[in-house]
Amino acid sequence: MQMAHEKQNETEAEIIDGKSLAKQLRESIAHHVSVLVEDHKIMPGLAVVLVGDDPASQVYVASKKKMAEQAGMRSFVHILPKTASQDEVLKLVKSLNAQKKVNGILVQLPLPKQIDADTVLKEIDPAKDIDGLTITNMGRLMAGLPGLVPCTPLGCIMLIKEVEKNLTGLHAVVIGRSSLVGKPVAQLLLRENCTVTMCHSRTQNLPHIVREADIVVAAVGKSAFVKGDWVKPGAIVIDVGINRGEDGKLSGDVDFEAASKVAGYITPVPGGVGPMTVACLLGNTLIAACRQNELTVPHLS
Ligand code: GUN
Repeated sequence: MQMAHEKQNETEAEIIDGKSLAKQLRESIAHHVSVLVEDHKIMPGLAVVLVGDDPASQVYVASKKKMAEQAGMRSFVHILPKTASQDEVLKLVKSLNAQKKVNGILVQLPLPKQIDADTVLKEIDPAKDIDGLTITNMGRLMAGLPGLVPCTPLGCIMLIKEVEKNLTGLHAVVIGRSSLVGKPVAQLLLRENCTVTMCHSRTQNLPHIVREADIVVAAVGKSAFVKGDWVKPGAIVIDVGINRGEDGKLSGDVDFEAASKVAGYITPVPGGVGPMTVACLLGNTLIAACRQNELTVPHLS
């Protein structure tokens, strides 16, 4: 199909600035938080559980804490040693479920080997599951019912809609089938009336399928996996990958340099999906706090 922005010449794609969009979203959330505090004396609380000392996870958790506080929320960071038992983690989650001041709970993944992530996630109260990873929230997303939706997929959709408001009939190709990104983002794209193709490590003729895509969401966890000549001219390319090279530099799942010569729009790494994930996490905490107090959920944009 011919998209409005389909490019005629080989020019650089427009960069979708996730950093700036995330800042706007966080400002809107901070405004709604201040109203909640002022009118209802409710300050949303975000609890983050970190087990172990993975340096990348430490950075993400610190950023979530800082951003929550900047948005006027309470933040509670619980750090358990990497030798913590499953029972200890479950006990902590149960205690957070019971705390009124905690509206959202996030257990930072991955967890150490001795802990079964599914068992831990199952224990989170679905009303506080701001990662949208409980079976209840996954089911609600699938059924089209209101619930809490995973943050990275929410961020991806906002980035796409920033450059194309109406996604009806567009062909979206999702690469990666994780519960955190691939599966939920496919559901959200379906909700937007896209035709969705799910691809994964066993998919045959992947370059051929990606060449058919008006929208590509790459969530594979392999640096520069999606090549420039896989991209359809004018396509919207959303790069979810955060890969750290031996030199410490971050790169995405898309060969940015090559793909940006063909795509219409593309997200950079860093500065694309990453900041949106954190902003959407705060959005989910606000939504959870409103619902738990039977208040109207504000529209976040
Ligand atoms: N680790 C990397 N990304 C995420 C995320 O979105 N949620 C959680 N809980 N852990 C993560």
